[in-house]
Amino acid sequence: MLVTIPDVLKPQEVAHIRRVLEETDWVDGRVTAGDQAGTVKRNLQVPVDSPVARELGEIVLRALGTNSGFMTAALPLRVLPPMFNRYDEGMTFGAHVDGSIRAVPGSGQRLRTDVSSTLFLTPPEDYDGGELVVHDTYGTHTVKLPAGHMVVYPATSMHSVTPVTRGSRWASFFWTQSMIRDDWRRHMLYELDKSIMSIRARMADDDLAVVGLTAHYHNLIRHWAET
Ligand code: NI
Repeated sequence: MLVTIPDVLKPQEVAHIRRVLEETDWVDGRVTAGDQAGTVKRNLQVPVDSPVARELGEIVLRALGTNSGFMTAALPLRVLPPMFNRYDEGMTFGAHVDGSIRAVPGSGQRLRTDVSSTLFLTPPEDYDGGELVVHDTYGTHTVKLPAGHMVVYPATSMHSVTPVTRGSRWASFFWTQSMIRDDWRRHMLYELDKSIMSIRARMADDDLAVVGLTAHYHNLIRHWAET
């Protein structure tokens, strides 16, 4: 399941993040890549443990905490600190799958990557190429979103970023361990939640059908969730 979530960041938050990133030092993106991904990865990143990454990551995490679209699509248990990358002209990331387990910086804990997210920080008209291409069981999806918008997709999917041929593409990206490990179950809960929202808009909240469906949604989470 691939879901796009509009307006995760306000325009002034995007502008602030971009201003800070303009002043920061970038390193070769291969520092956080595994063996296979490292051979096809050509981009730049802000060092994960740098003060800039932490400060900007907090802004992203705060925005996620109040975003109902992210909550219902990812059903997050824990989110890794967001990272920041850029693809200048000629940079690309060939086909790969993200590593399944990542260390949570500074905690000694590890997180299973169930959901991958890319939060776009550059307006699409400012660069050519740089599309995120995600392959899932339903085919190939090409994603390029306005600044401040985000895509979430199963971390089990093979994906790539096509070469940037003009300009520079900046983004934040991060992984989430979901309370619901299985993508298909997560997908069913997402569709059920959307349907309940749509029914609630037309019926009274105390209608027994609304109450019953809402109970069903929560009971499925109760049954399936790892916390
Ligand atoms: Ni990736």
